[in-house]
Amino acid sequence: MAEMTERMKELFKKVPTVVFATADLDGIPNAVPVGAKRIVDSETILISDQFLNKTLANIKQNSKVAITYWEGHEGYQLKGTVTIETSGQRFEDTAKWIEELGNKAGFPLKSKGAVILKIEEIYGLAPGPGAGKKLA
Ligand SMILES: Cc1cc2nc3c(=O)[nH]c(=O)nc-3n(C[C@H](O)[C@H](O)[C@H](O)COP(=O)(O)O)c2cc1C
Repeated sequence: MAEMTERMKELFKKVPTVVFATADLDGIPNAVPVGAKRIVDSETILISDQFLNKTLANIKQNSKVAITYWEGHEGYQLKGTVTIETSGQRFEDTAKWIEELGNKAGFPLKSKGAVILKIEEIYGLAPGPGAGKKLA
């Protein structure tokens, strides 16, 4: 496991969207934006699935994923393994959060599942000599 620092967590919360990358068993990549994201703890991220299709199909074949986020020239890449929860307390909390988000936005939103990422590696993305350096 790898742990996010306070700064990494702060930026993760601040950015409106992150890029969620998966691949199928043939190695065909798929990267999509997601905004319904939360930090569970320093080594765990939650993404709510409302509209994921290829992403979900890929995860079912290959649970290794990457999440990239940045602001200006500061950015991080989280790599790890995901599981999907479609029942239980964490899913119920996610469903409630997304329903409320939809109500605020003025259109219905429904979570199909909570995608839970256990972070195994963290890389820095800032351009320059340290670009791509493993941070944790
Ligand atoms: C700014 C933005 C934020 C998004 N946030 C989410 C999200 O939090 N959850 C979700 O399921 N889809 C979200 N989407 C939609 C998916 O990215 C989109 O439906 C994508 O086509 C799914 O692709 P896939 O079939 O390759 O998985 C968002 C899209 C945009 C443009």
